[in-house]
Amino acid sequence: MFTTVTLNPALDKLLETDQIHVGEINRTRMLSESPAGKGIDVAKVMRDLNQDVTATGFLGGPVAPVFRECFRVEKITDRFVKIAGSTRTNVQLFEKSGRRTEFLEKGPEVTRREYAELLETVRELAKKSTVVTLCGSVPVGIQEADFRELMRAAREGGAHLVTDTSGEMLRVAISEKPDLIKPNRSEMMELMGRENAADEEITAFARELVSQGVRNVLVSLGKDGAMLVCGQGVWRGAAPDVEVKSTLGCGDTMVASMSVSMEENLHPAEMLRRAIALSSANAMTFETAHILPGDYEAVLSRCSVEKIAE
Ligand SMILES: Nc1ncnc2c1ncn2[C@@H]1O[C@H](COP(=O)(O)OP(=O)(O)OP(=O)(O)O)[C@@H](O)[C@H]1O
Ligand SMILES: [Mg+2]
Repeated sequence: MFTTVTLNPALDKLLETDQIHVGEINRTRMLSESPAGKGIDVAKVMRDLNQDVTATGFLGGPVAPVFRECFRVEKITDRFVKIAGSTRTNVQLFEKSGRRTEFLEKGPEVTRREYAELLETVRELAKKSTVVTLCGSVPVGIQEADFRELMRAAREGGAHLVTDTSGEMLRVAISEKPDLIKPNRSEMMELMGRENAADEEITAFARELVSQGVRNVLVSLGKDGAMLVCGQGVWRGAAPDVEVKSTLGCGDTMVASMSVSMEENLHPAEMLRRAIALSSANAMTFETAHILPGDYEAVLSRCSVEKIAE
């Protein structure tokens, strides 16, 4: 079984209007409204791969039932902790010109009692899970020490630990030596404290992280593919040329793929090949974090990776 943890989920609302008039009334049309959050996306993809997955994190307020219904429909076991605060709604407003304006809500503050309940839930689920993924940002009220404690709880339960986060929490995650991190190019630049770096410099830095104890570093490079660095060497694969509909959730799809491959104990080259193929298949649908099996099979047969360093 897999467990995904989403500490700061959000309902994603996509609206359209002809043109924004700042300071006036704007009438909008709704394009879609869907539960979002990195761990939830990872869980959705795992279901597409027919895996048994439990999702946890914090949920509260009027939008919580929309999430609970999504978990029921997707057959994701729902162990979210109910909180007194309200889960966020993030709004993306599209104009006819194609311009997109985002409104990101700050989100609820999590209390100590709610955090303690989540910690217990993670402890319990980790004992039954092969992999626990801890993805995304953290809400107000959750400190660095809590994030560390959650990672340790997952590890002590005997599960592999996968984290996909950014900024300061990524640094915290690295110091806890997870089995996998999946920074994209800009997250890697932030870690390295650089504006730009050649691929060789990126892999050199990733090797350093591996020597510090991170088992696998998967650096995703968007349409340029990805590189996997681990104790057995460095592999690189190009992304296949596909008809792209939406790249939302591509990174989360990679995390799901790698987690499942980890359970299957696959060779690093095959882990990378599958992760690239599955994430590219996600780009072929408008839906975030959903893959059509036919797309995946077709893309997988065209994907290959090569070892670029020992
Ligand atoms: N345009 C594309 N064509 C084909 N594959 C793509 C494209 N964009 C992304 N991918 C695939 O998805 C993977 C992850 O993409 P990316 O590096 O953008 O992740 P990310 O920035 O972490 O995404 P997320 O928004 O989900 O966090 C890439 O390594 C690649 O395999
Ligand atoms: Mg990402």
